[in-house]
Amino acid sequence: MTIITPHGGKLINKWSNNQQEDFTGSIELDAMALSDVELIANGAYSPLEGFLNQADYDSVVENLRLADGTPWSIPITLPVDEAKAAELQQGNRVKLVKDGKVYGAIEVSDIYQPDKEKEAENVYLTTDLDHPGVKKLFGRPDHYVAGEIEVFQSSTKEHDDRFYLDPAESRELFQQLGWEKVVGFQTRNPVHRAHEYIQKAALETVDGLFLNPLVGETKSDDIPSDVRMKSYQVLIDNYYPKDRVTLAVFTAAMRYAGPREAIFHAIVRKNFGCSHFIVGRDHAGVGDYYGTYDAQKIFSHFEEDELDITPLFFEHSFYCKACEAMASHKTCPHEKENHVILSGTKVRELLRNGEKPPKTFSRPEVVEILIDGLQEKTAGVKG
Ligand code: ADX
Repeated sequence: MTIITPHGGKLINKWSNNQQEDFTGSIELDAMALSDVELIANGAYSPLEGFLNQADYDSVVENLRLADGTPWSIPITLPVDEAKAAELQQGNRVKLVKDGKVYGAIEVSDIYQPDKEKEAENVYLTTDLDHPGVKKLFGRPDHYVAGEIEVFQSSTKEHDDRFYLDPAESRELFQQLGWEKVVGFQTRNPVHRAHEYIQKAALETVDGLFLNPLVGETKSDDIPSDVRMKSYQVLIDNYYPKDRVTLAVFTAAMRYAGPREAIFHAIVRKNFGCSHFIVGRDHAGVGDYYGTYDAQKIFSHFEEDELDITPLFFEHSFYCKACEAMASHKTCPHEKENHVILSGTKVRELLRNGEKPPKTFSRPEVVEILIDGLQEKTAGVKG
């Protein structure tokens, strides 16, 4: 049995025990940078061995590729302010710190000032500060530090231990399970009927599903990851063949970069050992910034063997009352009055008010967990 080769040829491993005190200064990480540090260390971001230098950064922003031509779509950068940038020198071994804990070190190779307007324009396709990814980009400091990293420890796990798999571990698990064809699924939402439908459609032709919800930073009105994790478990327990699904967290921050992020999400899942990756409607989108299928179209930018992982594209899916089944425009001839389509905003509003979206939209067991979870949070805030 062969499992897909990691992006760039080999799985990177930057975990290290070399915590000697020969550091020159320190850099304070924000939550996004800390999650990036860990995902570089465990090989999820292979072939990256650290934060992008200027040549790679420019090339990613302009051409969706690292300077050596390897496809890469989202700049992975370490921002610092002007004072810190002035302090640092090439060749320094600098501690990477968050809240007083030393997580790792960076061997500084490059310090540069990015053109953030261009980064926003090319990566997010907008410079609008109402876009949560653009807001985050401009909210971070204005100098980028590049260099290979070593990582001494991982951050505190917010979810059950068993949901954390490094790419080496997920690959090992897929081998053990005899899964050669594995479909990866990214989500920042609870799994509703449309998600379930496209996952199961894919499952009809592959060996297993890697349900890999993103649990890093998301915008404040997205459903919190602890509530979501419970909802995924109850869904699997009630509706999925357990031996054909692996649930594991993806600890990256959400960028909301639509098409570019779809490529990034696919590459990372390849590193976790997925041979296939689902891209449905408006993948990683937000508001009206991207066209419904732009995140699918961007894949044609690359030759098949460059990405290697096979994207599985799905049309906008919904429950059709006339078909009495899940469907899409590819399979359903009925008028749209028959189609149960609710926006994410509408669903969140219903759930927060304790109202249940219909069974045709979301499984009742899932709805129950979401309503309870969100009400507990609200009570917690008020209390
Ligand atoms: S996100 O991480 O991509 O922002 P989201 O939960 O919105 O998460 O979507 C997860 C995946 O399901 C994406 O590939 C998205 O394109 C797809 N998807 C979401 N809703 C639908 C739908 N109604 N029909 C088809 N695909 C969908």
